[in-house]
Amino acid sequence: MAGRAETESAGGSPEKVCVTGAGGYIASWLVKLLLSRGYAVHATVRDPCDPKNAHLGRLEGASENLRLLKADVLDHGALAAAVAGCRGVFHVACPVPTDKVVDPESEVLAPAVQGTVNILQACSANNVRKVVVVSSTAAVHFNPKWPRDRPKDEECWSDIDFCKENEDWYMVAKVVAEKTALEYAEQSGLNVVTVCPTMALGPLLRPVVNVSHEFLIYNIKGCIIFAVVFYFLFSYYSFNHRCDVFLIFY
Ligand SMILES: NC(=O)c1ccc[n+]([C@@H]2O[C@H](COP(=O)([O-])OP(=O)(O)OC[C@H]3O[C@@H](n4cnc5c(N)ncnc54)[C@H](OP(=O)(O)O)[C@@H]3O)[C@@H](O)[C@H]2O)c1
Repeated sequence: MAGRAETESAGGSPEKVCVTGAGGYIASWLVKLLLSRGYAVHATVRDPCDPKNAHLGRLEGASENLRLLKADVLDHGALAAAVAGCRGVFHVACPVPTDKVVDPESEVLAPAVQGTVNILQACSANNVRKVVVVSSTAAVHFNPKWPRDRPKDEECWSDIDFCKENEDWYMVAKVVAEKTALEYAEQSGLNVVTVCPTMALGPLLRPVVNVSHEFLIYNIKGCIIFAVVFYFLFSYYSFNHRCDVFLIFY
């Protein structure tokens, strides 16, 4: 899947690719990129009528080359319909919890792990040529047993027991989902690659803030509070010690 010249099928129509969870932050940018490269995109969302997904229909090229399809990742039939005829699939959909997880199995683990199995099975059944599964640094990074001086590479996985003890269910889900995807690829011969982004930040295409941006906003607000407290403490200090203190805010 690459340059414009490769985006036409033998019949002259654009190559079809599928993006799951297409309304999400990262997936929206991916859909935009694929449309700009001339692909026909099957974009799955849980609710095509939800206004938070309306931006997809306004992307350049959407009127000709975007199909919005309703699919929960636990719905086999909907996934099969979404990937039918596609050359490549980008599996991006995954719950990224904002609040404390009450029921890890239904809220995070099942959609992340079984959802990944479901999409891979749908891809096998529909002769998809290549699948990109979006994993995360969450599947790699959280391993207190990893030697400090050894770079984290494909050998390094977050420690599931450690993550469970800390109730980091998203991390558990990302480890199990990525391992499951790689095992599935080995057993079935399906061409699967996984990618592990770290924190993704930048302009939002959709009107809803995702977790990585919530984290950014939280930290910026935290810094502002810190700066205000810092300013008053220094003002007090400079008043009492008859010295001038200059603070520069970036
Ligand atoms: N953002 C980051 O910094 C970051 C870093 C590393 C990895 N990632 C990974 O990148 C992917 C996208 O993350 P994001 O930040 O773009 O998050 P996001 O905006 O919250 O997108 C997640 C998408 O998954 C969909 N989804 C959740 N549960 C689903 C289900 N049961 N069936 C179908 N779709 C479901 C959501 O649909 P609804 O809109 O209907 O809820 C949403 O569109 C995820 O796999 C995440 O683990 C993100």
